[in-house]
Amino acid sequence: MEKKTFYITTPIYYPSAKLHIGHAYCTTIADTIARFKRLAGYEVFFLTGSDEHGQKIQRTAEAQNVTPIEYVDKIVASFQELWKRLEISNDDFIRTSEPRHHKVVQEVFRRIRDKGDIYKGEYTGLYCTPCESYWTELQLDENGCCPDCHRPVEKVSEEAYFFKISKYADSILKYIEDNPEFLEPKSRRNEMISFIKQGLEDLCISRTSFNWGIPVPDDEKHVIYVWFDALTNYLTPIGFLDDEEKFKKYWPADVHLVGKEIVRFHTIIWGCILMALGIELPKKVYGHGWLVISGDKMSKSKGNVVDPMLLIDEFGSDAIRYFLLREIVLGQDGNFNRDALIQRINSDLANDLGNLLHRTLNMINKFQKGVLLESVGGTEIDESLKNEAAETAREYRVLMENLQISDAVKLVWKFISRCNKYIDETAPWKLAKDETQKQNLSNVLYNLAESLRIIAILISPFIPTTSRRILEQLQLSQDIKLEDAETFGKLEINHVVGKPEQLFPRIEIE
Ligand code: MSP
Repeated sequence: MEKKTFYITTPIYYPSAKLHIGHAYCTTIADTIARFKRLAGYEVFFLTGSDEHGQKIQRTAEAQNVTPIEYVDKIVASFQELWKRLEISNDDFIRTSEPRHHKVVQEVFRRIRDKGDIYKGEYTGLYCTPCESYWTELQLDENGCCPDCHRPVEKVSEEAYFFKISKYADSILKYIEDNPEFLEPKSRRNEMISFIKQGLEDLCISRTSFNWGIPVPDDEKHVIYVWFDALTNYLTPIGFLDDEEKFKKYWPADVHLVGKEIVRFHTIIWGCILMALGIELPKKVYGHGWLVISGDKMSKSKGNVVDPMLLIDEFGSDAIRYFLLREIVLGQDGNFNRDALIQRINSDLANDLGNLLHRTLNMINKFQKGVLLESVGGTEIDESLKNEAAETAREYRVLMENLQISDAVKLVWKFISRCNKYIDETAPWKLAKDETQKQNLSNVLYNLAESLRIIAILISPFIPTTSRRILEQLQLSQDIKLEDAETFGKLEINHVVGKPEQLFPRIEIE
């Protein structure tokens, strides 16, 4: 049987500054979905990268007296280091400064121009350099500044190429209306529909005021607008121009995961570019919310930017991943807060999960020399635990398929609590003192080890290091499948488990 494929992307990040915890949030979500799909047997392609061109980057490099490429090389290396530390399992990393990407962008431009959907004209507009966006008078905020970042805009006039978005306005509107799963969550879909209904103007897609970008083919004094350049990245690594089979395998993308403020670019502009190319649209654009710090947007000027690298140094990557996945409902804004992070580490990771593993392995070692004995018969309590394990695995699959990640995390932790309660209810230390309860004791210990095996599988997309460590301590193979979590009783009789090692130390609150 042919393997099912799954193609997921994050936005490509601007190397205008180091990445912060908000960027780590988006990439962690995408990574979790990619890991889940691999676990469920899909052949996954997970892409992230860097969006390196544009005036802002050129100016930042100039200010530092280095060339743009010297500047981006260094900062992009820090992106890659961060993703490694956060255990991001991307299959490729696309840099828009790479020749393979230039080739694709120029070819896309050429094809659309040859078709007559790109023409030359004169552009006058209000431009926000940090956001690389043109705005109309009407769109500016109450101070006449950029509606996204609230910084001043500049009036710019230049000869430029335009992309006939107006020609595709009706088709893209119809597409969004006819395909409810194309743009999620629903609130973002409604926003986009009303945005398009206000009318779409042709989009200016070239600049002459700077040169750090991809030249327009056959008219090299123009560089291609950074969003036209950037969006095309999604085609490059999956073989758009050089590997037809691979391209067919992964396109259309299953999910473009993006922040809410760039949904417009990913549905309207990207949608129209693809329509002009005659290529299918992605199956889904999902607009997630923002991570805020005590209700405030992160910004350098406020001095509230949280560096994920420092957090990883302090707490480890799984603790950070867990917090981001558990605390924020996908699609909504969420708060990042250090105290809440420590609270979660102590209660959910050190206490609930850590103790369950520790107590279980300890008892198996102490009462049965580390050996799992045959489980025969069983009480009502045993049965209810087994049923809950099966139910958890089933519901988990559904929630994860629907991208309800925080709900899936909560579901698994509900089962972890159930297992801890099971220890209290069955009191194995009492059973161990009573010769007539030997079988009962073996049953309870088997059920606990088996529950931990299932838990290790289910948490592997969220906190992969911890999942590996649990499997190691259980002395089980790291080669896991979601299916294996859906059957209770897979652990072999006479299997020997390892010694317990602490998963998460408790953090003292200052
Ligand atoms: N380069 C463009 C994307 C091009 S994709 C073809 C860009 N880059 S960005 O670095 O500014 O932002 C990348 C992503 O990070 C966006 O999806 C944005 O929403 C996300 N985030 C930036 N700050 C964020 C938070 N505070 N919280 C969550 N996500 C945030 O836009």
